[in-house]
Amino acid sequence: MEKTLVLIKPDAFEAHHVGDIIKMYEGIGLRIAAMKLLQMDERLASIHYAEHIGRPYYEPLVSFMTSGPIVAMVLMGEDAIHRVRELHGKTNPAEAADGTIRKLYATDGRKNAVHASDSPESANREIHIFFNETEIYD
Ligand code: CDP
Ligand code: MG
Repeated sequence: MEKTLVLIKPDAFEAHHVGDIIKMYEGIGLRIAAMKLLQMDERLASIHYAEHIGRPYYEPLVSFMTSGPIVAMVLMGEDAIHRVRELHGKTNPAEAADGTIRKLYATDGRKNAVHASDSPESANREIHIFFNETEIYD
């Protein structure tokens, strides 16, 4: 069973979409292995988004991601990494397919409702930024 890290971003939390988004993960058969509500600070954001440091959008991205609470989750299931990325849709909601979470709930290409790991290596790294082994029920 594969695991992936998902973040429900501050825009979706603020707009009360948490329940609808979680329902979509459970609706495709994924299981919640860990979950918490937290607010990122700049240090946590710099660790999570390390590969984006120096990009022109990095500062506004951190400002957005630290602006309010987020839900962090580990989702588990067969092919979970790929299936969650498909369910989320393209980074920019204008390009996201109908029925995807970003098409339904994202505001724009920055405030785009959700994050998901993009490979087994990033999933392993990102899961352990937010969760200890003892907090993961797999
Ligand atoms: O989240 P995803 O893997 O789809 O996209 P990314 O290219 O890895 O970028 C990470 C996040 O940075 C995006 O989800 C956006 O929130 C933000 N971003 C941005 O604010 N402006 C951009 N031009 C590109 C990404
Ligand atoms: Mg990415």
